[in-house]
Amino acid sequence: MSVIILGIESSCDDTSAAVIKDGWLLSNLISNQKVHEEYGGVVPELASRAHQANIIPVVDTAIKQAGLSPSDITAVAFTQGPGLLGSLLVGSSFAKGFALAQNIPLVEVNHLHGHILSHFIITSDRTKLPKFPFLCLLVSGGHTQLVLVSDFDRMEIIGKTIDDAAGEAFDKCAKVMGLGYPGGPVVDRLAAQGDPKAFKFAKPLPHGLDFSFSGLKTSFLYFLRDQLKDNPNFMEDRKADLCASLQHTIVTILMDKLIAAATNLGIKEIALAGGVAANSGLRTATLQAGERLGWNTYIPEFKFTTDNAAMIAIAGHYKYLRGEYADHSSVPKARLPF
Ligand code: KG4
Ligand code: ZN
Repeated sequence: MSVIILGIESSCDDTSAAVIKDGWLLSNLISNQKVHEEYGGVVPELASRAHQANIIPVVDTAIKQAGLSPSDITAVAFTQGPGLLGSLLVGSSFAKGFALAQNIPLVEVNHLHGHILSHFIITSDRTKLPKFPFLCLLVSGGHTQLVLVSDFDRMEIIGKTIDDAAGEAFDKCAKVMGLGYPGGPVVDRLAAQGDPKAFKFAKPLPHGLDFSFSGLKTSFLYFLRDQLKDNPNFMEDRKADLCASLQHTIVTILMDKLIAAATNLGIKEIALAGGVAANSGLRTATLQAGERLGWNTYIPEFKFTTDNAAMIAIAGHYKYLRGEYADHSSVPKARLPF
């Protein structure tokens, strides 16, 4: 019999529902919350209210688009954490209600495992899946980690940021330049017209496989402040060069550690995951390093990089197969051990 999983993701500011059947993606709906734009960042209380308004239509449409009805679903998987507690509560409460109504198992998914396992979502465009063990560079708005993935349920963090996440570095520097939120995609777009070597920013490289981004942010701020003293138009005039140089620095920091980890471990199966994996500079650099070093590189399609429920559904699929069900006393957690 087929295994059909409904996935629900509500950890931050996107309400998403997806249906997968035996690992194949049937539908993946994402409702972005525009309400945060004017505040320059996610407002938690507004996010949970928007999730409440969105969740029923999003799930309903995802099931319909899959050509199914609620009674066809085998199990429901939801994001247990990490994330915003109020947002997670909306998704988990809905998932519990759905599971009770259909009398089907409930499966908790760690959001970060979802990002990593998004590589196993099967679509007609996906020709190869990573082989275990593989090394995953997980880069999002809240996390920056190098993860050694030995199996669907065996993952070990071998390097992580000691301060800000890579996405945060993009977003905070973008905010200073007045580029809105989230800034990563805007920096990426503007960087295409700029010179990546125009400016040099601090590139802290902490010991071992750990990352650091807060020094870069500070050096970016001070540099901009000094330049603006002499030339008030500096930011407007050089926006593309600033974006290109910032992106180049972030990508170099990430790539140095990814290459070091792959070399130390002797691993050639290399994957990117998380929102920052959408960055064109990082994608190109990973592909180029892969060609040079003989890697099999796995770069996710754009729709599987930022938060989506398909990744929760696929992680839930493998947990369901292992019989790891949650009971209805399950509570979401803002912080969840990896
Ligand atoms: O994984 P994600 O959707 O949410 C979290 O779990 O954090 O990642 C969101 C992050 C944001 O910081 C956003 O600016 C960044 O991913 N991002 C990008 C790009 N697209 C999204 N950063 C750089 N370049 C992009 N193209
Ligand atoms: Zn995420």
